Amino acid sequence: MTPDFDLRRVRIAVIGLGYVGLPLAVELGNRYPTVGFDINAGRIAELRAGRDRSLEVEPRELRAVTRLTYTDSADDMADCNLFIVTVPTPVNAHKQPDLRPLKTASRTLGAVLKAGDTVVYESTVYPGATEEVYVPLLEQGSGLELNRDFFVGYSPERINPGDKRVVPLDNFMIYKDIIRLDRPD
Ligand SMILES: NC(=O)c1ccc[n+]([C@@H]2O[C@H](COP(=O)([O-])OP(=O)(O)OC[C@H]3O[C@@H](n4cnc5c(N)ncnc54)[C@H](O)[C@@H]3O)[C@@H](O)[C@H]2O)c1
Repeated sequence: MTPDFDLRRVRIAVIGLGYVGLPLAVELGNRYPTVGFDINAGRIAELRAGRDRSLEVEPRELRAVTRLTYTDSADDMADCNLFIVTVPTPVNAHKQPDLRPLKTASRTLGAVLKAGDTVVYESTVYPGATEEVYVPLLEQGSGLELNRDFFVGYSPERINPGDKRVVPLDNFMIYKDIIRLDRPD
């Protein structure tokens, strides 16, 4: 099986609607069916009301987007086939990355992944973390196997908060040329 990147059939989920995820979800939602998922119900409520407290996206742009829905229920991502993870990776007091948001998001996705789906990690991760930590959670949750049943890619972050010069859609171009993760067995 190979990743299905027919953009006529793509249904995108963006997981984590913060500084990085919301502008990306809005840009994609102008073109493709897109679900914006966040565990923060308050964030979902404000976005549904057309407000973005991070001020990354203008109210006018939020109102104009036609193919984006917001949810805090993972079930609403069941029909999606491309999952883009943009949850935070804070550093703790010992300067160690806090992997919990990415682990939680990976478990959530493990429960919704289907054969043929692709997951792209856009959150900042240390080298090896995707293969060693997150992919096993996807496999355990879904019962599927990487590179046989589903695919994982990594997209380096390109958005600076407040910098409107970098268009989030630039990131999406990378996904069409996705790099497969090949694990040493
Ligand atoms: N913001 C930037 O400019 C920037 C730059 C470089 C890298 N990054 C990386 O991008 C990632 C996201 O950063 P950000 O600034 O957008 O974070 P953020 O804190 O602004 O937003 C993260 C969002 O994810 C949600 N979230 C947390 N756990 C979740 C989960 N398990 N499932 C669904 N949603 C969840 C939070 O409620 C929040 O709305 C981080 O890894 C960060 O290091 C960001």
